[in-house]
Amino acid sequence: MINNFETRDNSEEIKRQYYYIDLLKEVVSHLKTSKNRDITACVETFGCQMNARDSEKITGILKSVGFEVIEDENADLTIYNTCSVRDNANQKVYGRLGRLSTYKKQNPEMKVVLCGCMTQEECVIDKLCKSYSFVDLILGTHNLFRFAEYLYYVYVGIDRNLDTQYESDIIVKGKTLVSRWEKTEIICEKLPVDRKYFYKSGVNIMFGCNNFCTYCIVPYVRGRERSREADEIIKEIEGLVKDGCIEIMLLGQNVNSYGKNLSEPISFAELLRRVEKIEGLERIRFMTSHPKDLSDELIQTIKESKKICHHIHLPLQSGSTRILKSMNRVYDKEKYLELALKIRREIPDIAITTDIIVGFPGETKEDVDDTIDVIRKVQYDNAFTFIYSMRTGTPAASMEQLDENFVKEQFDRVLECVQETARERVKLMQDQVLPALVEEVNKQDPEYLTGRLSNNTIVHFKGSQDLIGKIVNVKCAECKGFYYIGEMIE
Ligand code: 5AD
Ligand code: SF4
Repeated sequence: MINNFETRDNSEEIKRQYYYIDLLKEVVSHLKTSKNRDITACVETFGCQMNARDSEKITGILKSVGFEVIEDENADLTIYNTCSVRDNANQKVYGRLGRLSTYKKQNPEMKVVLCGCMTQEECVIDKLCKSYSFVDLILGTHNLFRFAEYLYYVYVGIDRNLDTQYESDIIVKGKTLVSRWEKTEIICEKLPVDRKYFYKSGVNIMFGCNNFCTYCIVPYVRGRERSREADEIIKEIEGLVKDGCIEIMLLGQNVNSYGKNLSEPISFAELLRRVEKIEGLERIRFMTSHPKDLSDELIQTIKESKKICHHIHLPLQSGSTRILKSMNRVYDKEKYLELALKIRREIPDIAITTDIIVGFPGETKEDVDDTIDVIRKVQYDNAFTFIYSMRTGTPAASMEQLDENFVKEQFDRVLECVQETARERVKLMQDQVLPALVEEVNKQDPEYLTGRLSNNTIVHFKGSQDLIGKIVNVKCAECKGFYYIGEMIE
């Protein structure tokens, strides 16, 4: 399939969205005059880096039309950018919506918008329209680029005049506008973005996922895998660097399969080598790698690069070949171990981090022993451990589920093991002097700065605020378990 989306399909769409951005400017300006105060908006982000990046796009539009973006949810417009990877994320949103309804009773002109992965699920939309009818707009993930247009509809009403040739996906359900778009063909990356950090940024290189791991809802809510054209990505990064960005994180659910479907296929390693050549860019990160697609070419590219950070996130999910098969992960315990140990051998100082799910249907104590065996052998630098969460519509949801207490016990065993190996790995940096990108003033103690090493370890050290966004050398002086207190070396 050829999918050079950005060059082909989206110029009309972009023009249209800028038209609505202009109209929204008038709406906000009118509101400001009539209320004689700023009009506030709050964007609350749940979930992963993809969502964080989407929130920057939403905030970019809000600021460019004149909203005062604040952190307080009791705003004139509140947007929840939701996650649905695990059920507790969904429950959190429903809980928080209760609070928003109280705010809206106090301020009936308040607008509430829900977007992100949850709103791509039909059962969620039904529940929201039925029980949370004060929500003004529900917008899925595939057409977030239409945010300006739909927000205009919320304030002014649906603009039917322009709909002659235009495929609108807005429906009205009770008092709520709902965008139900199943299509994923259009990639629009040329709208305003408000970057949270001036010195670093995420860059989407691909969207969606084709892997259909049997526990995972992402392929259903983010759609089929589609890559952006390399030239577009390079142009975007060059622009970011001109704006002062020195670190970028290439984002995709499965970056290793980047470029396979482009009209001129290009491997992820090749893309990295092109990004490496961008002058002024100092650090490159990427997230997430699927073990099944991680090539030797990529390992060599990281090894030879001066800019690619020495950190690789390599989700294991389970160490049991039987469970991996049932999860549809397409690798087994041995293949994973072989790959992880090859990476360790080729790039000894690289940090390997992972995701692990405990309590997948059918998992036994012996399966968990296999997971623990892999953790011990790979010696992860950090691991995110999750209790399996049943997601409606996924194949694993119809498998027999495990006893909660058993799962909790197994989870604790896994957690203990990953913490042990992570502590051991972090200790290895004791007394080394390493470059750290200064990210912010320490939240607990403003005398300290917080920096990030190439391998993603956090180090806190004394220094002045004007170093934020710069790379400085820091001695890892005192190991505090998972992070360091350091000393800056001039
Ligand atoms: N239950 C628990 N964890 C999950 N993940 C994805 N789906 C589920 C689920 N249903 C985890 C995986 C993935 C990470 C982002 O979330 O470990 O790598
Ligand atoms: Fe979900 Fe698997 Fe795709 Fe990751 S690779 S997003 S776990 S389906």
